[in-house]
Amino acid sequence: MYQDIQETVQYIKQRTTNFEPEIGIVLGTGLGGLVTDIEVEFGLMYSNIPNFPISTLEFHSGKLIFGTLNGKKVIAMQGRLHYYEGYSMQQITFPIRVMKALGIQWLFVSNAAGSLNPAFKKGDLMVINDHINLQPESPLRGRNDANMGPRFPDMSAPYNKRLIEKALEVAKANDITCHQGVYVSVTGPNLETKAEYKYLRIIGGDAVGMSTVPEVIVANHMSIPVFAISVLTDEGFPEDLQPTSLEEIIETAKNAEPKMTHILSQLISAI
Ligand code: HPA
Repeated sequence: MYQDIQETVQYIKQRTTNFEPEIGIVLGTGLGGLVTDIEVEFGLMYSNIPNFPISTLEFHSGKLIFGTLNGKKVIAMQGRLHYYEGYSMQQITFPIRVMKALGIQWLFVSNAAGSLNPAFKKGDLMVINDHINLQPESPLRGRNDANMGPRFPDMSAPYNKRLIEKALEVAKANDITCHQGVYVSVTGPNLETKAEYKYLRIIGGDAVGMSTVPEVIVANHMSIPVFAISVLTDEGFPEDLQPTSLEEIIETAKNAEPKMTHILSQLISAI
């Protein structure tokens, strides 16, 4: 993997005149709008970047954006990769390894998720303060490269506490409903049955989604502090479960997006 990372980094550096990013951002389903706040210097399509997996989803654009946000140099992944698309865990987290090799010191992640907590409603935001990984494997499975990180990384605090507190402060000051809670990551792509939503709540989840945890594990492996936030796009409450469609998820994410963007943008300027 080291060779592949070097090759990809070299390609990117040549095309971005040695742009040195401080912050990496992964934008989730329906949440690509933060990019409009970035003063974009360069954009590279995943399909042109050597070794990059390409997004198979028509609603994820698949573009790596290089620019400045609130005075900070950022790289944003507009369109993320999911395990359910058929890629390996190593492939979907490859861009995080590349961003680290390009110099990022912080990682910000967003996603669309279903609420499991009856007090967390559709359209609310949830800062992730912990997770449960129910995807079938870890992105760290396989031989460990000790230059990247330890064989058995600690996961006692995978989400940066200071950023969690700051996000909740910003939300409060701006009258934005923003909870904090535990994100459960599943493979998907099907949504959950009533019995599964019930089970996920019982085991301690506040929200469920199909992403984020692999990227967070890899960031922790490389000692990058992480902030992650979910937009709750549907309610997985078994007593009164309503059918959900992708269109609805995207629409709810789009409507809540300005609130999330505001929080991310404030956090990034406060770093
Ligand atoms: N379950 C899993 N993933 C999701 C959901 C959900 O209810 N909503 C958005 N992503």
